[in-house]
Amino acid sequence: MAEQAIKRETSVSQLRCIGCGSTALPDRFRCEHCRDLLEIIFPGWEQGGPAGLTAQSLKNLWSDRRPSLEPADQSGVWRFREILPDIASQQIITIREGNTPLYELPSCATSAGIDHLFAKHQGMNPTGSFKDTGMTVAASFARQAGYKWVACASTGNTSASMAAYAARGGLHSLVLIPDGKISWGKLSQSLDYGAITCQLKTDFDGCVRVLNEVVERMPVYLLNSVNPYRVEGQKTAAFELLEQLNWEPPDHIIVPGGNLANSSAIGKALREMRQIGLISRMPKISVIQAEGANPLVRTIRENAGEKLIPVHAETMATAIRIGNPASWKKALRVITESEGTVEQVSEIEIALAKAEIGSEGIGCEPASAVTLAGLKKLVKQGFVKANESVALILTGHVLKDADFTLKFHRGDLFEGMPQEAEGRTLKSHQRAPLILEPSVEAVVELLHTSEK
Ligand code: F0G
Repeated sequence: MAEQAIKRETSVSQLRCIGCGSTALPDRFRCEHCRDLLEIIFPGWEQGGPAGLTAQSLKNLWSDRRPSLEPADQSGVWRFREILPDIASQQIITIREGNTPLYELPSCATSAGIDHLFAKHQGMNPTGSFKDTGMTVAASFARQAGYKWVACASTGNTSASMAAYAARGGLHSLVLIPDGKISWGKLSQSLDYGAITCQLKTDFDGCVRVLNEVVERMPVYLLNSVNPYRVEGQKTAAFELLEQLNWEPPDHIIVPGGNLANSSAIGKALREMRQIGLISRMPKISVIQAEGANPLVRTIRENAGEKLIPVHAETMATAIRIGNPASWKKALRVITESEGTVEQVSEIEIALAKAEIGSEGIGCEPASAVTLAGLKKLVKQGFVKANESVALILTGHVLKDADFTLKFHRGDLFEGMPQEAEGRTLKSHQRAPLILEPSVEAVVELLHTSEK
């Protein structure tokens, strides 16, 4: 009974090329005519909302599912299944992803110069990053389509997530990661979850090139973010954010940019929310990149978005160390449509912003901190006004890159480099561990001096 009910509520979807509009078979990634990326559309929504429901009944349905004991209802992704592609309930692989907190960051708001700042923390997902929301959908589709193997190239979070979902769903998984350029925490996750993990002597973009050929030759399903089912799952972060804001859109949403699928997903979600009538206006969606990995920023500033300018990427925020982002056209469309913008931030600005988010008792990984660093610049430029509401999408947990955090606090991260940004020194945010004699007096004395 429950199974039938779940099936009826999901929507019939189709794959369509973002370039020429041709439709494609459900397990393809690129258009066979023009090679552009594919996206999922829901033709049935033209005649009323998903599953024929009004905006109000969808809101009620999603909130009524919260106390349910059904695994799909407990997932913050499948709770919104009316806006997802049709997957049979027995094929759903869920680790109870989504349902992530929305925090206020009062100190960060003050330091950015705005009244209210929210952070939607996608790092609070089961494997510690936003990837889980997309992976539950794409891995479930892989299983439903009969694949035995899944694979991805990754800067570490996708691979951790894919390995976990493959393991939970009884699938084999293959991970290609750049040798030496991902954090140990992320690497250790994919090992622990049982993936076959290969460190290739190249960067992320090189891993993608190799994998694209492997999946052409072998019956392996690609779970990189060009996979349109991942984008669908990642949409739910925006649905959940709006639900947490009582369906009142913030003025701005700020997203880190790497391969540019997440910004695409958040934008697609907001477009659909407006189409369904859940919201009446779009927030401005802005994408922030690291200065050393800034292909979208360059493409928009130097090329008016005509043609991607790939770069050789270099940044300590290894999650977004990407020079040739696959989803740049989708992200560009979101920025243009929502009247958002792009900005780039330096390594020191990223590290300072990360420490500030940490000192609010929240924390995030370096790639997520670009959002706060970027916000500060957007406020200075007047693009974000002091009285406007802003939501940052924090994408990864603080424990994802403990090495970065320790080096920062010990003062080793920027050895021999300038020690300040925006007139603030790194020192003012560093909290190195103190080595003390094992005596009560030493600790008490320390507390006295710290009070001053
Ligand atoms: N933040 C984190 C923590 C990430 O891991 C990534 C991407 C991004 C932001 C950028 O998101 O690619 O959708 O623009 N990580 C990928 C990976 C590439 O392999 O884990 P995007």
